[in-house]
Amino acid sequence: MDKKRIVVGISGASGMPIALEVLRQLRGHREMWETHLVYTRGAQLTLSQETGCTAKELEELADCVYDNENIGAAPASGSFRTEGMIIVPCSMKTVAGIASGYSDNLLLRAADVTLKERRRLVLVTRECPFGTIHLRNMYELSRMGAVILPPVLSFYNHPDSLECCIRHIAGKALDFFGLEGEGYARWEGMDEDR
Ligand SMILES: Cc1cc2nc3c(=O)[nH]c(=O)nc-3n(C[C@H](O)[C@H](O)[C@H](O)COP(=O)(O)O)c2cc1C
Repeated sequence: MDKKRIVVGISGASGMPIALEVLRQLRGHREMWETHLVYTRGAQLTLSQETGCTAKELEELADCVYDNENIGAAPASGSFRTEGMIIVPCSMKTVAGIASGYSDNLLLRAADVTLKERRRLVLVTRECPFGTIHLRNMYELSRMGAVILPPVLSFYNHPDSLECCIRHIAGKALDFFGLEGEGYARWEGMDEDR
């Protein structure tokens, strides 16, 4: 059986440990899923700033890696079948590019294609606080069908570490593709005696 393909985009916002966790969790599904990675120059900077991981180690987590300048790579075309795309983390510059259809790199073009083909686009948007332009762009993207999933903390699952929060967000993003995320705590309802 052909594997399902997912495009993972990484842009230069804060949140590289979440990107690494998404790729790691996808590796756990590699019998069924194939990961296609594209990351920006900004992502490379934040990766070295926020983690001890090199670009080579990042790339080893994916099945296929594309040069962000290569706007002729497979994910640039709608005829390349995928289940959709996650951009994690998604910078406000990348949000603006997608919202306006300004596809001057492969990551932006792949997101544009995902929307035009009516496929799932999950954006782990990160800025703090969000400005009015950011909120307007995210509102427009949500209206266009994208899922806006900022890495917001949840406490109902009683996280006891930062790793726990990272796993939860990564699992929540993957849940939109029907993938059971490791460490993703679903709400099962409140005990009646509470
Ligand atoms: C360490 C670091 C952290 C950053 N964090 C954010 C962030 O959380 N959100 C954001 O929108 N931009 C952030 N930026 C700025 C983006 O990297 C910058 O706007 C870049 O042009 C984004 O380009 P890209 O989307 O093509 O990666 C950060 C930059 C650095 C160096």
